[in-house]
Amino acid sequence: MVTVVRTPQELADARGASTVALVPTMGALHDGHVQLMKHARPLADTLVASIFVNPTQFAPGEDFDTYPRTFEADLERCDEAGVDVVFAPEIETMYPNGLDGGIGIEPGPLGTILEGASRPTHFAGVLRVVAKLFGLVRPDVGVFGEKDYQQLVLIRQMASELRLGVDVVGCPTVREADGLALSSRNQYLSDAERQQATALSRALRAGAAAGDQGAEAVLAAAHAVLDDAPGVDLDYLALTSPDLGDPVPGHDARLLTAARVGTTRLIDNVSLTLGGA
Ligand code: PAF
Repeated sequence: MVTVVRTPQELADARGASTVALVPTMGALHDGHVQLMKHARPLADTLVASIFVNPTQFAPGEDFDTYPRTFEADLERCDEAGVDVVFAPEIETMYPNGLDGGIGIEPGPLGTILEGASRPTHFAGVLRVVAKLFGLVRPDVGVFGEKDYQQLVLIRQMASELRLGVDVVGCPTVREADGLALSSRNQYLSDAERQQATALSRALRAGAAAGDQGAEAVLAAAHAVLDDAPGVDLDYLALTSPDLGDPVPGHDARLLTAARVGTTRLIDNVSLTLGGA
């Protein structure tokens, strides 16, 4: 049975001297989160999941107030997935000097592209809370979904550059049968929008299938799906190297997209191998 802890002291007691794997979440848990937990389970003695809707990663006007909060159902999911400890801190524990006071983390250049261009304060908020979670939980391993690919790259970079001693592990995106990447925000979509949203994964699949013809063909194939997709307002479609630099022919690459469907902003990405030399 999963133990719920809310304070740093309770967390330290529950953690003890065991090795720890951490799956940070904002709750509203779905099968994608369960996969992260199952992936993390064998990596350490104690599996901790955190549930904290982090205000600093939402800009004014974004969905912080309406973000789904389903704590009791989340605990059941954690239990099923083999989580030992759920850390659900109060806001004062995470931000003792308030949201605007205290120490921040500057994400650097990678935090200004793609998601960072549309949501300029987002990654500073993500890195700030993840650094605090790493400090509180002191995990050996942190497990994050590839669905938020830029977030994964930035957290890995933060852990490495700041020598946080946490091995950051990525876990493949979980999809619905029709390809839609699982996301807590999918529940904002109407039935019609839910159908329209499949254009993102269709476009990424089309792009990946053109990988052996090179970068231009990848982008053209994905644009051919997205540009005329009804109800889809494209924010970006980008082909990068796995570390979000320029793609290199003959190597692995990442194709990433973000679009608004109705009022819901969705992101998705796939890996592919680029042809050419
Ligand atoms: O991916 C998320 O759910 C959040 O960005 C994270 C990593 C839990 C930080 O709040």
